[in-house]
Formats: sequence, structure tokens, C-alpha cells
Amino acid sequence: MRAMRAETFSGYEGLKLIELPKPAVTKGKVMVRITAAGVTPLDHTILSGKFHGSKAPLVLGNEGAGVVEEGGGTDFPVGSRVMFFGTYGAFEDGTDSEWVAVRKEDLCLIPDNVDDVSAAGIPVAYLTAQVALTLAGFRAGKTVLAPAIGGSIGNAVTQLARALGAKHAMSSTTNHAKAEQAKALGFNEVIDTSLEKLADGVRRITSGYGADIVIDGIGGEVLSEALGAIALEGRVTTLGYSASRRTTIDVTNLIVPQASIRGLNMFAQPQAAITDAWNVIVPLLKSGAIKPIVAKTFPLVEAAAALHYLVEGRPFGRVVLTI
Ligand SMILES: NC(=O)c1ccc[n+]([C@@H]2O[C@H](COP(=O)([O-])OP(=O)(O)OC[C@H]3O[C@@H](n4cnc5c(N)ncnc54)[C@H](OP(=O)(O)O)[C@@H]3O)[C@@H](O)[C@H]2O)c1
Repeated sequence: MRAMRAETFSGYEGLKLIELPKPAVTKGKVMVRITAAGVTPLDHTILSGKFHGSKAPLVLGNEGAGVVEEGGGTDFPVGSRVMFFGTYGAFEDGTDSEWVAVRKEDLCLIPDNVDDVSAAGIPVAYLTAQVALTLAGFRAGKTVLAPAIGGSIGNAVTQLARALGAKHAMSSTTNHAKAEQAKALGFNEVIDTSLEKLADGVRRITSGYGADIVIDGIGGEVLSEALGAIALEGRVTTLGYSASRRTTIDVTNLIVPQASIRGLNMFAQPQAAITDAWNVIVPLLKSGAIKPIVAKTFPLVEAAAALHYLVEGRPFGRVVLTI
């Protein structure tokens, strides 16, 4: 089968299109013919040699969509369309290939109203977003901030929080054109940080109240700024570092509102947390209350260009490989 493999973790040049044997279906695994694979910043972190635990050579791709060919039983009959995330593309070969033998518990049926390309970009973003919201004690009426409306996490948290009844589901962008794009797509609580400081925007939108929940995948100055907008007893989750792994914080931003801050690692989640998250996400997909956004697709052979486009181009929406 064709696969895009990182032969070395030395940047984009490390990616090579190669032929590999089709994987074997062992007990508890389901053979999935991959139709589309989500491109994520994790691919870039691994390819740059900055991710703990990954070993080259490695087929990248942490999430994907495809069709069941064998081993799915009655839950996932032959021919059913599925999407999944797991340790693929990080600790074992991933979805940038024609077939993956997927652990049955990682699979989720794709609703009929969602196409494979959109589905391929759902698992990582929406599972992370929902798990983060649950751990932060989200319920209807809360005010939520998730920076970077065009990014996968920022967008998924904003869509989920809005669909689940947040009083305010706020996000941001550093790019004025993206702020306009967000407005046109109906995201009305996006702070354009080329015009206004993030914390000022949150205070303006919430009439001074602040954010009960901050879910941040950006790090650096964005996280530092976001801490200035926390409501009393607010909860901050840091889970990514698209801008930087390092940040400087004003400790009084935590002390005064008695706020708390925690990290989130999706590779450390119990199966029940993932199952519970799918149980929230799937009905919202079916009803159209949340709608995944795809910015651009690339063929498998252009995996390096796709990743470059995601990281350097900072598009609005997901980048997906068609297999
Ligand atoms: N802990 C976990 O288990 C877990 C799970 C999923 C993802 N993650 C991590 O979470 C992070 C976000 O993932 P994602 O998929 O949402 O990323 P993404 O889709 O690539 O979006 C990142 C966004 O960050 C903003 N950005 C990038 N560089 C910036 C900079 N220098 N300064 C300010 N803003 C910048 C950009 O928005 P604007 O151009 O609009 O400003 C960009 O669109 C990544 O580090 C990812 O690996 C972690």
C-alpha cells in the first residue's frame, strides 16, 4: 500500500512516499480503507523531532476517515463509514496511508450528513474540545474563550460551547481578514487582536465579567493575554503551543480571581472520556448544530505541502489529505 512516512524527524524533507505491506487484522482490530486523513500541528511537532515518544520511521496522521473492510462485527459492518483518532501517527503508524488496522474502541460511525473529508478533520479537534470543556466544568450559561477561531481547537471549542448553550462563546484571531471571514461565517464573538487586546475584547463582550473557561492551544503571548480575562473562580486549560511553548504570566491574573490552570493531554484520556465526548458530538453533527470547516484538501503525495500550508499559511479551517 502507499504511505507517506517520515523516514527521519528532520523537517519536511523527511517525508517520503513509500510502499508498505497492508497491515494485518488482529483480534480487536478493524481493517479500515482510509479515504481522508486530517493534517494536524502534531504532525509538524513530530516531524521537527520535538515530540516525546515518537520513533522514526513513522507514518504520520493522527486521525482519519474511511470504510470498514473487515473485523467490525455488527457495530461497524463491512462498508460502514468511520472516523477515528488514537495513538496512530504518534506511537504507531498513522492515517497517511491506504489502510490502517484500527482498534475497535477508537472508531465512530460518520453521520450520513457528513462527508469523509469533513469527517477526517473531526476527531482530534472535537474530541479535544469536548473533553476540555467537560474537565473545565462547562454547562449552559458559562462564558468561554478559545483563542484562534480559524484553528481546529479554537473553532471546535467555540462551535461546541455555542451549541451547548454558552452565554458567550468567544474566540480571537491575530489576522484582520480572518476576523472578517469569521463574521461572515456567523462567529459574532471573535476578538480581532490586530485592533484590540484579547482581555479587553473579552471584558467588552461580557460587560466586564470575563471568561469562566479559557481553553488555549496557542500558548505564548496569547495565553498570557488570555489570563487577563478570567472571571472569578475561572478555569484555564492549556493544551497546545501553536505560537510558543513558553509564556510569561502575571500571577495576579490567577490570584485575584482565584482562578486555576491545568494541562490536557489527549493521549492520557480514559476510554470513557472519549466515549462520553463522542456521545455529545455525534448528535450535534447530525442536527447540524456544529459544522466542521475544511479550508483545503491535498492529495497524499503532497503531504509536505499540506503541512506547510497548515503551519505557515494559518488557514481558516482544516487541512485534509485525500487518500
Ligand atoms: N494536548 C493535546 O492533547 C492536544 C490535542 C489537540 C491539539 N493540541 C495542540 O493544540 C495546538 C493548537 O492546535 P490546532 O489544531 O488548533 O492548531 P491550528 O489549527 O494550526 O491553529 C493554530 C492557530 O494559532 C494561531 N497562531 C499560530 N501561530 C501563532 C503565533 N505565532 N501567534 C499567535 N497566534 C498564532 C493562528 O491563528 P490566527 O492566524 O487566526 O491568529 C492559527 O490558525 C497545537 O499545538 C496542537 O498540537 C494538543
